[in-house]
Amino acid sequence: MDAARIDEVVGDFVRLKKRGVNLIGLCPFHDEKTPSFNVSVARGIYKCFGCGKGGNSVSFVMEHEHFTYREALVYLANKYNIEVEETERTDEELQEETRKESLYIINAFAQQFFQEQLLQTEEGTSIGLSYFEERGLTRDTIDKFKLGYCPAEGEVFTQTAIQAGYKLELLQQLGLSNQYGKDFFRGRVLFTIHNVSGKVLGFGGRTLSADKKIPKYVNSPETEIYFKSKIVYGIHQARKAIVQQDSCFLVEGYMDVISLHQGGIENVVASSGTALTQEQVRLIKRYTQHVVILYDGDAAGVKAALRGLDIALEEGLNVKVVLLPAEDDPDTLVQKLGGEGFRKYVEENRKDLIHLKTDLFLSEAKGDPVKIAAIIKDIVASIAKIPDSITRSLYVKQTAKMLEVEEQLLISETNKILRKGAMDKLPPQDKASAETSDTPVIQREQNNFTFHFDEPQERDIIRLLLDNSAYEVEGENAIARILRNLSDVEIDHPVYARMVEAYKTGFEQGIFLPQSHFMHHDDIELRQLAIDLLQTPYELSDNWGKMHDVPITDKQFLVRKDIVKSISLLKLKKILRMKSDVEARMKELQDANDPSTLDEIIMCIKESMQLQQFIQKLSADTGTIVLPVIR
Ligand code: GTP
Ligand code: MN
Repeated sequence: MDAARIDEVVGDFVRLKKRGVNLIGLCPFHDEKTPSFNVSVARGIYKCFGCGKGGNSVSFVMEHEHFTYREALVYLANKYNIEVEETERTDEELQEETRKESLYIINAFAQQFFQEQLLQTEEGTSIGLSYFEERGLTRDTIDKFKLGYCPAEGEVFTQTAIQAGYKLELLQQLGLSNQYGKDFFRGRVLFTIHNVSGKVLGFGGRTLSADKKIPKYVNSPETEIYFKSKIVYGIHQARKAIVQQDSCFLVEGYMDVISLHQGGIENVVASSGTALTQEQVRLIKRYTQHVVILYDGDAAGVKAALRGLDIALEEGLNVKVVLLPAEDDPDTLVQKLGGEGFRKYVEENRKDLIHLKTDLFLSEAKGDPVKIAAIIKDIVASIAKIPDSITRSLYVKQTAKMLEVEEQLLISETNKILRKGAMDKLPPQDKASAETSDTPVIQREQNNFTFHFDEPQERDIIRLLLDNSAYEVEGENAIARILRNLSDVEIDHPVYARMVEAYKTGFEQGIFLPQSHFMHHDDIELRQLAIDLLQTPYELSDNWGKMHDVPITDKQFLVRKDIVKSISLLKLKKILRMKSDVEARMKELQDANDPSTLDEIIMCIKESMQLQQFIQKLSADTGTIVLPVIR
């Protein structure tokens, strides 16, 4: 697997940033807010300094995707379009693979059987199929989601499977047959649960009886191939649409997913009645950063549910929530309103998670100061979960207004939590000193809420992206070129950053997103930005041509010049700022005159010199002269 570049393999699951010669990101194997997961491209390995996990491309996908060695090789081979060479496997590995493979094979057999029962037997059509049809599902939908039916008579499936050569023991392990050899799902209609690539992990079975004593749904148990907390229902059918629309709806039930899909809303998955887990959030995050959660139910239920969503904030997702009318769930609502009507409803009723929480809680507190104090704590706890400091500080501003409290109060409350979080991560011996001295934790706290936008420069780059999707520069698509040049730049403005992320995601899928993608985007801020920028097209003035001594008609050339120049200018601004930060810190340390900080002072000097070198190089690219700052 020499072709498997560690940064590309890991990069499918972890957002990596450059840090020196290595890359760094948030560790996918343990919960953390500051990145300690290191990737060395040169050495082809990863190592987490938080939890200690480390290895190469193959071990990464084995660990992350719960693959066997063989499965990992096949995965990487598919990713890189190469053949898997036969390798030696230990007996243990062989056994594990064989066991897993047989579970998948049996599940596929069961799925086929249940589908045939539904569509081709008298009992299946008259009971199961007619039920699905009554609920408004078309044949196409039934086929797409591999819906099925298990006969009511006790052991038709189990007997058929045994006759086909499958062991009762494995049928039982998969939960298809119970301990007495009877069909577990008898008399139920079935929803097939697929993994991302469409393999059958298990089933959910709905009773057709109205008897309240019978559980409405029963599900396959967890097995070696089915981990409930790691999968969301519908991801196989939804993932393409999620990427295309850069947004994912999250609902509660099987029927909600299916009905929305049939209504033309295909970017939808379900958590299947359980609280959202970190792994589920990360699965969604592979495809988009934007989640719209659709909740049915009463206010009390919703409030409880909202608390469960901090996990999504923590993973850096942008979470919107739509509350549905009390009598509806997504399934009934889309059947009433149709796909377009449903979209419109969502558009009009979509609320930001933190704002909604603040709203709901406030109306409940009815001005009671004690309750309001508790609310502030609750909201602040949510805000502190957000990894991005800019987003965090924007929320602080907005919620301070809503709660009618001083922004400074929320800032210091948030910082308390952040500081505690940072301290919890320190090794025990450092904790005491961190609590009493003003060292880095406090320092970081001050930075949490200071930010500057390189707004005009960042905007120029977004404009370049929007303007040039169809252009090539020296055989490279302009978007690819811009993204390549941006790889070591962090965009500060949250909306611009989202736009760049969208281009990156598209690029990873081999798509250069056209303007129209954003003109009709679900995310209203992205749409507005695209419209704003495109309404004032970037007209290169004649002057520009003269200045650069090129004929204005040579768009290719202009695009290239522009890309280099705009990005260099942005980098230049950012680096100038970094340098002045470093120098300010250095001055602070020198003024304090504390011999123990000498190491840090030396580091500052080195860093400042390094930054100065960058500045000179970038000044050359931009034609800007940077005069030394005299203090
Ligand atoms: P319909 O009544 O068929 O429309 O189902 P629904 O999808 O609207 O179900 P509901 O809103 O009642 O529940 C949402 C999800 O919770 C379901 O899709 C199931 O995954 C899960 N669920 C509901 N009832 C049960 C139950 O009795 N047992 C288990 N294990 N899960 C359930
Ligand atoms: Mn329902």
